[in-house]
Amino acid sequence: MPNDITLGLTATQEGVAKAAELLAAGLLVAFPTETVYGLGADARNSQAVAKVFEAKGRPTFNPLIVHVSSSRQAQRHVVWSDTAQRLAEAFWPGPLTLVLPLCPDHGISPLVTAGLDTLAIRVPSHPTAQAIMAAFDGPIAAPSANPSGRISPTTAAHVRAGLDGRIAAILDDGPCAVGLESTIVGLQNHPTLLREGGVTRESIEQVIGTSLDLPSTDAPLTAPGQLQSHYAPNAKVRLNAETALAGEIHLGFGPVEGDLNLSSTSDLAQAAARLFDYLHQMDAADQPIAIAPIPDVGLGRAINDRLARAAAPR
Ligand code: TXA
Ligand code: MG
Repeated sequence: MPNDITLGLTATQEGVAKAAELLAAGLLVAFPTETVYGLGADARNSQAVAKVFEAKGRPTFNPLIVHVSSSRQAQRHVVWSDTAQRLAEAFWPGPLTLVLPLCPDHGISPLVTAGLDTLAIRVPSHPTAQAIMAAFDGPIAAPSANPSGRISPTTAAHVRAGLDGRIAAILDDGPCAVGLESTIVGLQNHPTLLREGGVTRESIEQVIGTSLDLPSTDAPLTAPGQLQSHYAPNAKVRLNAETALAGEIHLGFGPVEGDLNLSSTSDLAQAAARLFDYLHQMDAADQPIAIAPIPDVGLGRAINDRLARAAAPR
């Protein structure tokens, strides 16, 4: 139930200090990362982490990503490997999450991992996220700051629309540059692509010198958050639409003009950065949504992954 005032903080020294203070007190603070806004909690404090699941309405079997300030900090919580080192050197700080075995004395609440013996961990590059981590000086568990199953937030206004009254504060630092969540790679066995995201499959494969496995479909628990229906607007979504039907609002891409265009120059990075904001805007219009075809290469694969989930039967 919405109950309290959700403070609005800004990306000033005071705002960052207040965010860190609230986190240390076991409260929830939404903050910007380069991918999407995260809903942060002290990853060592089970009571704080429990509030994340409650505020989002998130099933507790769906584990959270932990955010730390450096790969040295990451190594306090997980068993490091050569592949992890190579990927961290290439992509951290940035939109890549690594899933690694928890190490002894990791200190992470079992609620964060949903009881798994692995931890998803990343080092965000957003300067304000970095500043909060420096001030808080501990691991921050942070899922995307949206009600479970709904469109991810790329602005503070999106966060407030979804979670107002359910969390202690939102730190506003403008729109997120990448606009899609981090890519998740499992490193327990052969490197496995658990979620497409802000770092392309191709660039990861180049760094590790081998192709990524895809999770086997009969092992749904390897990526428990990859539920079929997700990122869902209220309205019905139709994909690969070159034209709109009567009554539909049309999201275009490139030459398929649409009512709104993700990128008239067919730039996938621009389309990724705009995707969730445009879905939020179209959702407010409360009409069925038709979406132009997006090329299934590079960042287009992550965009199409999110769109397929937005259109999935619920
Ligand atoms: O870009 C991002 O990753 C954003 C920002 C805030 O950092 N966070 C984010 O978190 O997207 P969330 O909770 O929306 O998605 C986390 C995903 C879920 O699909 C979850 O199942 C998966 O990470 N995950 C977490 N821990 C895992 C683990 N130990 N093994 C496999 N998947 C895991
Ligand atoms: Mg999410």
